Amino acid sequence: MAISKIIIFFMFVSSLFVSSSSQNCSNYTFRDNKTYAACKTLPVLNSFLHWNYYESNHSVDIAYRHTSLTASNWAAWSLNPSGGAMIGAQCLVAFRNTSGLMSAYTSPITSYRTRLEEGPLSFEVPRVAAEFDGDQITIYATIKLPNVTTAFTHVWQHGVLFGDTPGMHPSGDNLNSIGIVDFASGVTLDNNARPTTTVATRLSRKNRMKFVHGVLNVVSWGILVPIGAMLARYLRVFEIANPMWFYLHVACQLSGYVVGVAGWATGIKLGSDSPGIVHTTHRNIGITIFALATLQVLSLKFRPKPNHKYRSYWNYYHKSIGYSVIVLSAVNIFQGFDILDSEKKWKKAYIGVIIFLGAVCVVLEAITQFIIFKRKEQSADNPKVANGIDELDNV
Ligand SMILES: *[C@@H]1O[C@H](CO)[C@@H](O)[C@H](O)[C@H]1NC(C)=O
Ligand SMILES: *[C@@H]1O[C@H](CO)[C@@H](O)[C@H](O)[C@H]1NC(C)=O
Ligand SMILES: *[C@@H]1O[C@H](CO)[C@@H](O)[C@H](O)[C@H]1NC(C)=O
Ligand SMILES: *[C@@H]1O[C@H](CO)[C@@H](O)[C@H](O)[C@H]1NC(C)=O
Ligand SMILES: *[C@@H]1O[C@H](CO)[C@@H](O)[C@H](O)[C@H]1NC(C)=O
Ligand SMILES: *[C@@H]1O[C@H](CO)[C@@H](O)[C@H](O)[C@H]1NC(C)=O
Repeated sequence: MAISKIIIFFMFVSSLFVSSSSQNCSNYTFRDNKTYAACKTLPVLNSFLHWNYYESNHSVDIAYRHTSLTASNWAAWSLNPSGGAMIGAQCLVAFRNTSGLMSAYTSPITSYRTRLEEGPLSFEVPRVAAEFDGDQITIYATIKLPNVTTAFTHVWQHGVLFGDTPGMHPSGDNLNSIGIVDFASGVTLDNNARPTTTVATRLSRKNRMKFVHGVLNVVSWGILVPIGAMLARYLRVFEIANPMWFYLHVACQLSGYVVGVAGWATGIKLGSDSPGIVHTTHRNIGITIFALATLQVLSLKFRPKPNHKYRSYWNYYHKSIGYSVIVLSAVNIFQGFDILDSEKKWKKAYIGVIIFLGAVCVVLEAITQFIIFKRKEQSADNPKVANGIDELDNV
């Protein structure tokens, strides 16, 4: 815990240091007027990284600029998912070739004797292009980030061309052009801030937290709470289940609430840990659900006695808030799926759960109405008879 706090602190201090000690990159205008939400001035080699991160499909659009070059230079920018410097680097390479056009391609490095031969990377790169304008090479690419993490070691480089073949890079600063970039939070670390693995571990912990957040909230607000409501509505008509339905309802809703609040807290923590990403609607609905559900738990304490004249108002109030919570929860769960689940498999599974619960409701509703109808018929002479499900309350 303490160690992760120190690391976060260190990341922020070092990112402040990097941005204050170098030029401002965010007012740079690209030729096609494309804008990037994030940019970092890299600590060495006159380089800048601009990017847009898309959480929905776990991809980034990047523009890497390397200035102070000539037409006889090559430039490269790479992610190294293995965390190393050169070996394992998945490069985007660009230079002006002997036809006077830009070569821009991908090259995985497997040996120190590489000549940056073209080859496929360990992740998908749907687009790579480059331009050269006098002293600057800019590489544009779309990258489908591997796995679930958003933080990677990145390495950038330049060297001299021999015809159309990149030669070795120089030493000096070229041995320090390595760092970590977290595309989601915008935090970067330079070479001095290693060890890499600790930071990468912390950032992948965050992805685990997103998973926990999803599971807790789906199980509580998305499954337990609706089942709790169904227990209250459909068990009541059976005399034998009286007052058992009430205790089952309370137990189900209270456990749903406890698990749900834990899920809610992970969401608040995730939000405060990623100041760069705002899911305003998801967050606001989440806070509303929490407030209404808390009201619901508290209102249990203040419910009038079953025969009290205000009891029917309380019932009405309790049901409207309860159904609102259920509807808002479903809406927010789908919002969450859109944010986190690019493959939609969780979404499909949850739609299955909703259809199942809906079908059970239809059947139970029919049985309930039938029982109420029968009961009315049987005791038409009894004035205390149930004329609706509300009248069945006796707890
Ligand atoms: C960089 O420039 C942009 C636009 O000119 C400005 O909004 C931003 O505050 C600047 N950032 C820094 C750190 O100076
Ligand atoms: C961007 O801002 C920096 C300092 O804030 C300035 O030196 C630089 O000339 C600006 N670049 C452009 C393209 O406006
Ligand atoms: C970019 O914006 C400038 C100024 O708004 C405009 O003159 C130029 O034509 C635009 N370029 C492209 C490629 O859209
Ligand atoms: C990812 O999603 C964004 C926004 O929805 C879109 O602009 C981009 O093209 C997508 N990238 C890939 C590789 O599918
Ligand atoms: C130079 O680059 C262009 C565009 O990528 C390519 O079509 C051409 O074959 C390249 N020329 C050489 C000599 O590699
Ligand atoms: C990440 O993905 C690669 C290939 O896509 C796979 O070999 C590797 O085991 C994955 N790592 C984790 C931690 O899932």
